[in-house]
Amino acid sequence: MTTTPTRLAVIGNPVAHSRSPHIHARYAEACGHAVDYSRVESPLDAFVATVRAFAAQPGARGCNVTLPFKGEAFLACPRTTERARRAEAVNTISFDADGWLGDNTDGAGLVRDIELNAGVSLRGRHVLLLGAGGGAAGALDALLAARPSALVVANRTVAKAQALVERFGARAARLDVALAATPLEAPGAGFDVLVNATAASLQATVPPLPAGTLRPGALALDMMYGAAALPFMRWARAQGAVARDGLGMLVEQASEAYFVWMGVRPDTFGVLTALRREVDEQIAAAAKAGAAAPNAVR
Ligand code: ATR
Repeated sequence: MTTTPTRLAVIGNPVAHSRSPHIHARYAEACGHAVDYSRVESPLDAFVATVRAFAAQPGARGCNVTLPFKGEAFLACPRTTERARRAEAVNTISFDADGWLGDNTDGAGLVRDIELNAGVSLRGRHVLLLGAGGGAAGALDALLAARPSALVVANRTVAKAQALVERFGARAARLDVALAATPLEAPGAGFDVLVNATAASLQATVPPLPAGTLRPGALALDMMYGAAALPFMRWARAQGAVARDGLGMLVEQASEAYFVWMGVRPDTFGVLTALRREVDEQIAAAAKAGAAAPNAVR
């Protein structure tokens, strides 16, 4: 007798380059689970119908949601976890007897990557977060929970950083974190950790931070990965910082989502190592051919 595999998917637009099916296949194999994780491209105006059709398939247990649907997914889920409500975005939906439950594993994935993979404890540190969009909100929630002593949100449009800081003000006070908003050009100096959650890397630009923003040896992480992250990482190294892309965050948010659906948190080390080799090879091959490497993003 064959059993129906657990069906999972990533739903987005575009979704063709998503590495999630590969990552989750590795996790399922390591855990000994029968899982069928696929890519589903949703029409831009039919996200909810697309999720509904996927959820109706035999064995469907949940899905990941990626750009541009994370905000819409948040509104579409009748129940959400606290971390999804704070981020106002959903990247993981579980289908259960009570309907859809929306969660957000992005922030947890980021913090796990910083603390466990990069080995940098955030507690008591000075942290600078660039950006004030959906990605930054999820990151901010999880960064606050790690209890740095100070967290500055710097954004091109300062009003948006201020709004984000106001939204999280009470939580920051409860956690004893000094939270402030600044423009990109004047964030302050000597930060221990920098997280770039802006879309600047997609435009091959680096946010205009002044020299001295980072202390020597600081960790500077771009939430993008692949060729897109290279200009930021080059800039970070020139500042004397340790540069990191978003690949670790990607595998960690996936591991956390797998835990949400399957109750087991797969080890990420092997997957991250293999993925990093693959991405490096793609960038090198594209450079040799004089072509642009596929722009893989979070
Ligand atoms: P996401 O959901 O991925 O966070 P978003 O909500 O569109 O995407 O937010 C994009 C973020 O990147 C914003 O903080 C944006 O700054 P503005 O609020 O000023 O628009 C930031 N951003 C985009 N392009 C940028 C650039 N070239 N330099 C600096 N910041 C940029």
